[in-house]
Amino acid sequence: MNNDIRKIGVLTSGGDAPGMNAAIRAVVRTGTYYGLTVMGVKRGYNGLINGEMIEMNARTVSDTLQKGGTILQTARCLEFKEEAGVKKACEIAKVFGLDGLIVIGGDGSFRGARDLSRAGLPTIAMPGTIDNDIDCSEYTIGYDTCLNTVIEAVDKIRDTSSSHERCSVIEVMGRNAGYIALNAGIACGAEVVLVPEREYSFDEDVLRPILEGKARGRRQSIVIVAEGIGGVIDMAKEIEEKTGIESRATILGHIQRGGSPSARDRVVASEMGAKCVELLLEGKSNRIVCMQDNKVIDVDIEEGLAMKKELPQEVIDLAKKLST
Ligand code: ADP
Ligand code: F6P
Repeated sequence: MNNDIRKIGVLTSGGDAPGMNAAIRAVVRTGTYYGLTVMGVKRGYNGLINGEMIEMNARTVSDTLQKGGTILQTARCLEFKEEAGVKKACEIAKVFGLDGLIVIGGDGSFRGARDLSRAGLPTIAMPGTIDNDIDCSEYTIGYDTCLNTVIEAVDKIRDTSSSHERCSVIEVMGRNAGYIALNAGIACGAEVVLVPEREYSFDEDVLRPILEGKARGRRQSIVIVAEGIGGVIDMAKEIEEKTGIESRATILGHIQRGGSPSARDRVVASEMGAKCVELLLEGKSNRIVCMQDNKVIDVDIEEGLAMKKELPQEVIDLAKKLST
């Protein structure tokens, strides 16, 4: 136990994700359990630079575990990317007497956490993003809830698609990462899944499976496209023109970022949030709390950012095998 740590801050940064509130609650309640004062910093790194923070306690986080979004709000802060912004944030943290900070966000936010640690403010980060695209972690908070939202939506689209014997082309989130598309594709039995990590040929990877499926008697098709590939409206038109199958496009959009967190997100967020506080109390800084081999562990931020996680080829193959 590091007795120098008496007051800590917590903030959420980057895109919000279901389970962020569960993580904030775990930080606040673990902090108060150990007798710390916990400050909630508003609007990501903006709140640190502008000194926007509020004292939190066990009651401030009552009734938040089950809520989507983030009660601290989140933001993208350009000023913080400059050296002067980090310096200002550290000065404000000193003014408020913060001995440590916990950052819940994605890899951009982790780079900010690393800069704060280097500048002298002990900082620990944990992954909150629906994309599941943090290389050092098998899992990111919000991913499971997002997948469940996508599955529910695609199942509904499938009902109408099946009634009209159409092809439905559905865009899901993931600018650079295909985890949502791939696993939603498996869970929804999509005929085609397109992810940004793999190049594709329209004729071979889209038209061929749709036409072959039709020849085998399939009466509808679901095509799931990650946001990073995009172009679903034009793709639906082209499928219709080239196959004669009536096609419709749907962009699921921000519905995927909201909603009450799933059991998995609540539990993992609680474990990770508590671990962040314990690391600060052990005198640690510049760490990412993450999941490896299904266990919550911590790694150095620099090392974590340098790790590589690949979209597993065997899962891509499985999606293809099951789509016949
Ligand atoms: P995410 O954390 O979800 O990846 P962003 O990439 O938008 O989201 O990053 C969130 C915030 O983290 C940015 O608005 C900025 O304040 C900070 N940040 C991002 N990249 C860096 C960087 N290279 N160095 C320092 N801070 C950064
Ligand atoms: O990182 C999460 C994410 O939802 C991505 O999948 C998406 O590309 C991006 O955020 C959208 O961000 P926004 O609409 O908030 O700018």
